Amino acid sequence: MRLDHYIAKRLQISERDSRLRIASGEFQVDGSVTTDLRMEITRFQEVAAPGKQLQAAITPLYMALHKPAGILSATTDPEHTTVIDLIDHPDKGTLHLAGRLDRSSTGLILLTNDSAWSESLSHPDSKVPKTYLVETDRPIPESAPMKFAEGFPFLSEGITTRPASLDILDPTTARVTLYEGRWHQIKRMFHRLDGIRLTSLHRQSIGPYDLDGLAPGEWREIDPGKIEGQKMEGQTC
Ligand code: URA
Repeated sequence: MRLDHYIAKRLQISERDSRLRIASGEFQVDGSVTTDLRMEITRFQEVAAPGKQLQAAITPLYMALHKPAGILSATTDPEHTTVIDLIDHPDKGTLHLAGRLDRSSTGLILLTNDSAWSESLSHPDSKVPKTYLVETDRPIPESAPMKFAEGFPFLSEGITTRPASLDILDPTTARVTLYEGRWHQIKRMFHRLDGIRLTSLHRQSIGPYDLDGLAPGEWREIDPGKIEGQKMEGQTC
């Protein structure tokens, strides 16, 4: 959010008063006075008025977690264990998920408090490849890769799935690469092939990130220096 909008909202003053007060040099961002009305303010910056902190900076966090089956891809749930419950970190309350997995699915979940990064990974237009290993209840037909590449109409959403790749590894095992993430997408795509059901679905990677040896239930921080693409840019307050 722009500084002038941020100050107007935070102090509940008019946009005009906000601009006048910023122009007079009243506010500091990360310890320096700024008169730049258009400066983008993220949650990773400290904003202060004389004698008053308006916003403390939060530390950017990036995490990879190996979700076991049965754990919910959510931050809180009154009934079930969530991926956040598996994490032991003082700032875990700031995290959100960059994409979900069904409760029965396993594999890589990325978590962060940097919404610009999570959006760059999970927005349908970002076309970040996500790879999955699947096992099916019966042999996968030879025509399946072509059908995955052509896309399946999902009438309830009014879309056709983006071209996806399917590599058949053995008659009942395949690697799927998706460039989008819709509800139960892979299960629904296989179901279109004469009702094939998945017996397991495991996410191996999201873009350049993979499990890198994490056992089920384990998590690790990703070094912010290794974060690719957009980060810490657009998270508004
Ligand atoms: N597709 C599914 O059907 N389930 C998942 O968890 C992920 C992709």
